Amino acid sequence: MTVIDQQYQEHTSNTVPGHPRILALANQKGGVGKTTTAINLGTALAAIGERVLIVDLDPQGNASTGLGIDRRNRNCSTYDVLIGEAPLRDAVVVTAVPRLHIAASTMDLSGLELELGSARDRAFRLRDAIGELNNNVSPGSDYTYVLIDCPPSLNLLTVNAMAASDAILVPLQCEFFALEGLSQLLQTVEQVRSTLNPNLSIHGIVLTMFDSRNNLSNQVVADVREFMGSKVYETMIPRNVRISEAPSYGKPVLVYDLKCSGSEAYLRLATEVIQRERDLRTAH
Ligand SMILES: Nc1ncnc2c1ncn2[C@@H]1O[C@H](COP(=O)(O)OP(=O)(O)OP(=O)(O)O)[C@@H](O)[C@H]1O
Ligand SMILES: [Mg+2]
Repeated sequence: MTVIDQQYQEHTSNTVPGHPRILALANQKGGVGKTTTAINLGTALAAIGERVLIVDLDPQGNASTGLGIDRRNRNCSTYDVLIGEAPLRDAVVVTAVPRLHIAASTMDLSGLELELGSARDRAFRLRDAIGELNNNVSPGSDYTYVLIDCPPSLNLLTVNAMAASDAILVPLQCEFFALEGLSQLLQTVEQVRSTLNPNLSIHGIVLTMFDSRNNLSNQVVADVREFMGSKVYETMIPRNVRISEAPSYGKPVLVYDLKCSGSEAYLRLATEVIQRERDLRTAH
């Protein structure tokens, strides 16, 4: 029995039927591990029994490519959804991972902000599209988690993601300027909370590309844990070459090499995310 099977047997989903938990992977800094975390946390959650939809909200489309979705199969994309020309369900395609689906993106998304102009509901396009998603599906085939992969910017796309989400999950690269960008991100979350989405919370901060041999990496971990306390997940994602190789094969690292340290870390992160969900639910 594989690690995945064992965990699957122990796990039953704890989200409310018909209401997926919606988490946005956000950080305006580029290259910190948002997409890698969306793909691999999504895969790990699916592997342990959750039904997961990744929404690619980045015009770069890295989550779509990293999951092996050919550009020719993106006839209907998140752009069509946000512009109001298609329901989200039409943009969804299956991936090679059971229980993991994705709504792919295309470069068109980069023009969305201009095209939506001052439309009154422009910040709520994604929220409304996700709201319709689990309607009219048979019980047991609805999503339990929606993970939104944001672009490296605090633009209208990221604001749509924050307005649609229950919580944000912040990948933070273990490097010198990590904390600097974090304050600005937290301010934006505060703004969204006070204007667009009072329920938005911070699910957690995941430290990525950790290298234990690097003193700077260790110092950043200590600083972030001091500043953000229990918001920081115990699990750290190590710098691991298998993680960076996997997307070029159109595969999550858990499929590419289940036994590598990166895969193990993402499985632990998924367990931690689910545990936090349980704690939140019992606290209410
Ligand atoms: N733990 C890791 N170990 C090694 N390489 C990693 C790791 N995490 C991410 N990478 C690599 O770092 C690069 C940036 O990662 P990723 O694309 O996930 O970041 P991002 O925050 O989504 O970037 P962007 O802001 O451009 O959307 C990619 O080449 C990815 O393969
Ligand atoms: Mg990305």
